[in-house]
Amino acid sequence: MILSAFSPLLRSKLLSNLTLDALMKMDPETAHGATITALRMGLSPQQQGPDAPELATDLCGLKLTNPIGMAAGFDKNAEVPRQLALLGFGMTEIGTVTPRPQAGNPKPRLFRVTEAQGVINRMGFNNEGHDVAFERLRSVQVPASLGVNIGANKDSEDFVADYVLGVNRFAELADYLTVNISSPNTPGLRNLQTDEALTRLLGEVLDARAKAKKRVPVLLKIAPDLDETAMDAIARVILATDLDGVIVSNTTIGRDPVAGMSNATEMGGLSGKPLFPLATQRLAQMRQRVGDLPLVGVGGIHDAQTALAKFEAGANAIQLYSAMVFGGLDLLDRIKAGLVSEVRKAGKKNISEFVGTKTSDWAAGRL
Ligand code: FNR
Repeated sequence: MILSAFSPLLRSKLLSNLTLDALMKMDPETAHGATITALRMGLSPQQQGPDAPELATDLCGLKLTNPIGMAAGFDKNAEVPRQLALLGFGMTEIGTVTPRPQAGNPKPRLFRVTEAQGVINRMGFNNEGHDVAFERLRSVQVPASLGVNIGANKDSEDFVADYVLGVNRFAELADYLTVNISSPNTPGLRNLQTDEALTRLLGEVLDARAKAKKRVPVLLKIAPDLDETAMDAIARVILATDLDGVIVSNTTIGRDPVAGMSNATEMGGLSGKPLFPLATQRLAQMRQRVGDLPLVGVGGIHDAQTALAKFEAGANAIQLYSAMVFGGLDLLDRIKAGLVSEVRKAGKKNISEFVGTKTSDWAAGRL
């Protein structure tokens, strides 16, 4: 084949760009399935060489070779964690997984808001359940930090009990666990973010963690659709526990940044570029409330500048998903190269030196 005339690196870049064009012509959920299949078959580009030392990061005691993670929802069923690590992510988060398998909402349930490089999803925790994910993870070696994002079945009588099952099942296998109470697509789930409910949830989750053989870091993933009073309450509850960190944020139910665009009125959570300002402001506002508790910044990262801004707002590490839909898998390399060059340009040694340098500006909405 003519592609064999090119170097492996160039070949993988050509393949990934060709694939991106084809994927954008497919319906979004089919395109996602095709991407997972391609990754499973080893058809994706792989990182050449080690990460630059400027990107080495400590997150809750985990040693990441770079601070960029694949966010939850891409690899819901733990099909490709190894491939995502080989692509160059410093961490990869599988899930959300629920105790029992569930089908999720009827299709179509995933939409592009192409004009804004946004995505709207109302997947509804479609996943194959704990057992399937556990068996896959048990037999795979992942050369990055592995997060398992746990949730509750839609028809569960006790959401909290489902999270405890998640901790019991995955504490030994995961490098960290994410307690996801911020999906807008499971009715009632976001109520767990309120004071009393969160106190009970974290109490039981952290009790379960304490009984596990290994002390696995536990992070809480919150929504961006919280006002400052709600964030005060969350921070108060969190700081009274030994929770290890917070992921800010999940998708938004707001539509202001995409009003009038195609698919903007679809129900579900909005992610990608239009989520960036809100999620970054919430990140900074959480940083102001939690001292130096580790924070992971997510929402709308689509280039090195937006990645850097998350650190400046207060993130210790970052995750992304939607921008890969529009930018392709080699977006990760571009972001990493851009971050390394920003560190060097600023005369710094490591990306961590940017953490929180613009928190007050972001929190006040000045940026
Ligand atoms: C998600 N996200 C998500 N989050 C989570 O905690 N559990 C999940 O199952 C999912 N599922 C999911 C599906 C799809 C199709 C998308 C686009 C997103 C949210 C995701 O992890 C992230 O928080 C947001 O998408 C914001 O980041 P980006 O996409 O703007 O980089």
